[in-house]
Amino acid sequence: MTMDLFDGASTLESQEQLAPGAVLLRGFAAADERELLSALAEVITQAPFRHMRTPGGLPMSVGMSNCGALGWISDRAGYRYGPVDPLSSQPWPPLPEVFLQLATHAAERAGFSRFVPDACLINRYEPGSRLSLHQDKNERDFGQPIVSVSLGLPVVFLFGGLSRSVPARRIGLMHGDVVVWGGPARLSYHGVLPLKEGFHPLVGSQRPNLTFRKAG
Ligand code: SIN
Ligand code: FE2
Repeated sequence: MTMDLFDGASTLESQEQLAPGAVLLRGFAAADERELLSALAEVITQAPFRHMRTPGGLPMSVGMSNCGALGWISDRAGYRYGPVDPLSSQPWPPLPEVFLQLATHAAERAGFSRFVPDACLINRYEPGSRLSLHQDKNERDFGQPIVSVSLGLPVVFLFGGLSRSVPARRIGLMHGDVVVWGGPARLSYHGVLPLKEGFHPLVGSQRPNLTFRKAG
């Protein structure tokens, strides 16, 4: 398998354990790329990407949206999940079937057999966008994993430990790669280095990322 960061996608499916409870599924989403991208486009027409503000008032560099019963929101009031898109005052669009199938199959492959996500945070990285090291901890049940699907441009994903001081591994993620972390790794610190310029033949100059969660 090639590890060239500038390849369009992983050429073969493979599996690598990053830590107990954390698995990298190379190329797991590649076969569904077209269905995933068209479902994503449909969601985004209903709930467009926006730059949410941190509780401190700064706009985030990553464009965000959600689908599913609950969506992740950040604003002056803090971080939380809610059923309504604050832009439209409508419920978030439902989880497309192809999203749900992919997320549950990836979780199963990683050893989490009863994952039923109710939230999908959609991050859109453009060149320069980054996500600093954080834990996903606004969900109610840490017994359920996080499933993260990478599309579009390659990026360096940081995967650390349970405290900020544990040095983070740097993992090149490509179009079609899926990372699952749960169990003892559920509260692992993770983040994304600034996206480099580039062009992906199906997705253009961006990196959409889907993270599936059981939030409520
Ligand atoms: C996230 O932590 O919400 C997203 C991670 C990623 O973009 O790979
Ligand atoms: Fe996260």
